[in-house]
Amino acid sequence: MPLVNMKEMLNHAYTNGYAVGAFDVVNLDFVTGVMAAAEKTASPVILSLAESHFQHYDFELLMAAVETAAKRAEVPVAIHLDHGESLESAIDSIRLGCNGVMVDASHTSFKENVETTAQVVSMAHACGIPVEGELGYVPGVEGEDAEQHPGEMRYTSVNEASQFVELTDVDFLAVSIGTVHGRMNGEPKLDFERLQQINASLAIPLVLHGGTGLTAEQYKRLIENGIAKINYYTALADAAGACVGKNADQRRLGFTGLMQGVSDGVQAEAARCMTLWGSAGRASEVLAHCEPWLPVEHLIIYNTSIDDGRQIDHMMAEGRRVLAAIPGVRRVFTGDAVQESAGYRYTWLVTFCHPAVIDSYREHADHVAFADGFFRPIAGDRISIDYQAVEREGSATGADRVAKMSA
Ligand code: 13P
Repeated sequence: MPLVNMKEMLNHAYTNGYAVGAFDVVNLDFVTGVMAAAEKTASPVILSLAESHFQHYDFELLMAAVETAAKRAEVPVAIHLDHGESLESAIDSIRLGCNGVMVDASHTSFKENVETTAQVVSMAHACGIPVEGELGYVPGVEGEDAEQHPGEMRYTSVNEASQFVELTDVDFLAVSIGTVHGRMNGEPKLDFERLQQINASLAIPLVLHGGTGLTAEQYKRLIENGIAKINYYTALADAAGACVGKNADQRRLGFTGLMQGVSDGVQAEAARCMTLWGSAGRASEVLAHCEPWLPVEHLIIYNTSIDDGRQIDHMMAEGRRVLAAIPGVRRVFTGDAVQESAGYRYTWLVTFCHPAVIDSYREHADHVAFADGFFRPIAGDRISIDYQAVEREGSATGADRVAKMSA
């Protein structure tokens, strides 16, 4: 299960002088194309889902495929929410399987950006999830001509960057140093001196948005100056679009005919980037370096002191509603024993995205209110244990992962 901790993945890239591609995926052809490129080049990879693209696909449905692709991969993978717009979208994306989130409040004032970002960091860190913030403003729209969205570029200020990181505690910072989202006319002028100063003062992995359209030399200098994650979409979309256009020119084709080769086009472009950015060939090093990303099952089995089935059903329904909304909870299962002879008649099985959620869930006000107000008064006879998944040989279990008994 090569889903890995994204903070460790990017720290490895940062300290070893290469960058991991964060490729925005918009359908299954993109997911399979990017993953095939990563497998082919033995590269760590980030599958990225941009909130601005949610109008084009069903986030929940695509996430199911993205997570399956990550779990069956041989190379290390992280799943990231790109340009998250709110605390709610960060919580949702974690519930659906993202193990890294970006909160983008870069269009607001410094003060507002700090407040919004710090709120997301506090929630995400309690779930074990790293956060990318953005300071300065990278204009343009992914997949479109940058000239059509000329919004004003705001370069990241070196002084503000260190204040921002200190005040928000973000793990990675997206910087604005001259790139734009989307296709651009001519060669962009990048402010390497500014980047160098930001890197010297922060010493954390930096992120480049608007990765499409730079030269090999520009990528090299960016990576030498702290860029450890490159966000990339437009060139993949153009490769996919060119393929559909070519199919359409050839003869009259149905939908599957038009889409033929799209995944290969995405793969070729993503593989080119992985080679160019130095992530190719790093997969096994990164796997050895990173904590595997494994969920925890919070298991409770219990008997109740009451006989009223409707009251128990109501308590379970209330629990499913309240507990599923707590950050870091991925799923809430409530059950009634199939065998009448079972020593414990009922169960809760709550899936946490990471062991950090064991504590943050227990202390969360909504959990405390539900447990004290509904559950504990009628379920004195209970056993509660947290189990971490064992899905990969050699993943840490046993002595250092002793199942925790909780009250
Ligand atoms: P491009 O579309 O310019 O590659 O940028 C992608 C991006 O920055 C996504 O966040």
